[in-house]
Amino acid sequence: MKKVLITAGPTYEAIDPVRFIGNRSSGKMGYALAKAFLNEGCELVLVSGPVNLELSHTNLKLIRVESALEMENAVFVYKDWYDVGIMAAAVADFRPANVADEKIKKQDDRTEMTIRLVKNPDILAGLGQIKKEHQFLVGFALETENEEQNALKKLQKKSCDAILLNSLRTKGAGFNSNTNEITLYRADGFKRHFPLNNKEAIAREIAAFLLG
Ligand code: PMT
Repeated sequence: MKKVLITAGPTYEAIDPVRFIGNRSSGKMGYALAKAFLNEGCELVLVSGPVNLELSHTNLKLIRVESALEMENAVFVYKDWYDVGIMAAAVADFRPANVADEKIKKQDDRTEMTIRLVKNPDILAGLGQIKKEHQFLVGFALETENEEQNALKKLQKKSCDAILLNSLRTKGAGFNSNTNEITLYRADGFKRHFPLNNKEAIAREIAAFLLG
C-alpha cells in the first residue's frame, strides 16, 4: 500500500487574536488529490490549512493546522514515512514578526500602520533536501508570468521530482474554482498536460499517472 503525504489549503499567519494574513486557496485541489489517492487504495496523511472541507476514510489521517510553522511541524513528522509527497498548500511566504496578545486598537490619530514580516520556512524545499531514494516529491507552482520557466526553476530549486503548474492566466484554473488546468513537469524532462477539467477529475488523472 503506497503511503501518500499531501498538504492542502492556505495558511493563516496571525497578526493578533482576530486578524491574520492569508490567501484565497480553498483546499479543493489538495482534497481532490487526497480523495483520488484514497480511491486508488493508498494510505494517506493530509495536512490541511483552514478550509471548509471535510474528508473521512479509514486510510486517512487528517491533520488540521493554521500557520506555516504548524504545517511544517506536522509535515516533518512524516518526512521518512511517505512514498509520494504532494505539496498543494498555498503556504504564506511571510508571517508577522510579532503577534499581538490583544486585538490591535484602531487609534483615531493614526493613518498608517506597518506590520513587520519575517520569512516562513519553505516546507517543500525542506523535504526536497532530505528526500530518500524511495520517495517521489511533487510541488505545485502558481505562476502569472514566464510560467514554464518559473515552474522549472522551482522544480530545481526545491529538489522536487515533479512540479504541477497551474496558471492564474487560464480562466477557471487555480485558486478557489472547481476546475483546474495543470501541466506536469518531471525532473527528467518529461512533460504532460492535463486540460481544463473539474479538480476531482484532474486529481484522478494525476493520481493514476503518479502511481502508474
Ligand atoms: O486550494 P485551491 O483553491 O483548490 O487552489 C489550488 C492551488 C492553486 C492553491 C494549488 O493548486 C497550488 O497551486 N498550490 C501551491 C500554491 C503556491 O503557493 O505556489 P508557490 O508557487 O508559491 O509554491 C510552490 C510550492 O512550494 C508549492 O508546492 C507550495 O506548497 C510550496 N511552498 C511554498 C512556500 C512555502 N513557504 N512552503 C512551501 O512548501
